[in-house]
Amino acid sequence: MNDSISLAYTIVEGRDVEAFDAFATSILGLQRGASPAPDVGSYRLDEKAQRILVRRGDADDIAAVGFEASSAQAFEGALARARAAGVQPQPGSADEARIRQVAEFAWFADPEGNRIEVCRGLREATEPFRSALMPGGFKTGALGMGHYVLIADDRLRLARFYTAALGMRLSDTATDREPIGEVSVSFLRATPRHHTVGFAQAPIPFPRRLHHIMIEANDLDDVGASYERALAAGTPIANHLGRHLNDRMFSYYAVSPLGFFIEVGQGGLEVDEATWRVEHVDRFHSWGHRPGLPVPAAVA
Ligand SMILES: [Fe+2]
Repeated sequence: MNDSISLAYTIVEGRDVEAFDAFATSILGLQRGASPAPDVGSYRLDEKAQRILVRRGDADDIAAVGFEASSAQAFEGALARARAAGVQPQPGSADEARIRQVAEFAWFADPEGNRIEVCRGLREATEPFRSALMPGGFKTGALGMGHYVLIADDRLRLARFYTAALGMRLSDTATDREPIGEVSVSFLRATPRHHTVGFAQAPIPFPRRLHHIMIEANDLDDVGASYERALAAGTPIANHLGRHLNDRMFSYYAVSPLGFFIEVGQGGLEVDEATWRVEHVDRFHSWGHRPGLPVPAAVA
């Protein structure tokens, strides 16, 4: 994909950042990064200085996502594409760029108010990534840091916007009956990773916009060991181990202390652009992913 962008970082906000820190380091096996500002924690997945930023606040939700362009030229191209789609990217300040550990960035909002940042020059850490709990490390690089799924009011409108403004491609759509009722999702990719973002429409209100962030381990055993740590620590499980039908990800979903879920996966599909066909699938899961949370009484 020409002037492709990849998911560089996510910024989340929440109240109990101390509990999130314990979860991120002792269950997920993330490496703590250097704190870029007071009350901002950072976590590493790879050689980059940081991939997940956590700031203290009331929202318990996503605050922003950052997409990285691979060069100054690609950065300008990405901003021009956004302008052509009808938005006016606003430059981030030098201080905001320093907190994000990027050379520069600009931001705009999608039609539902989700903050999107386009950056270049995400810095590398001075020390190699090391995690005793995740010895195989995480799959990032050209695929970006992972994927995330938002709750959407109008998933088709968001899919059109992310296609036009960010150059993403629709990978597929899916509908399934979940414990809360019928859920439909549009999955879009910015890189060969099957999806970079998903937009989910659910039949009941969801308390936040962020459903989950997915981080992908290189080693299947690291996913299993992480799942066992979550169970042993009493971490609520949103979905137990299973495999997705469309991106074939083997994964489980933990409920983070900020309320949204973290999907820890392995073995996700990479799309071959030459042969890929967009389809609608009628199941989210090949097997497993048994719900671990009680079904809300209103829809039980
Ligand atoms: Fe996912």
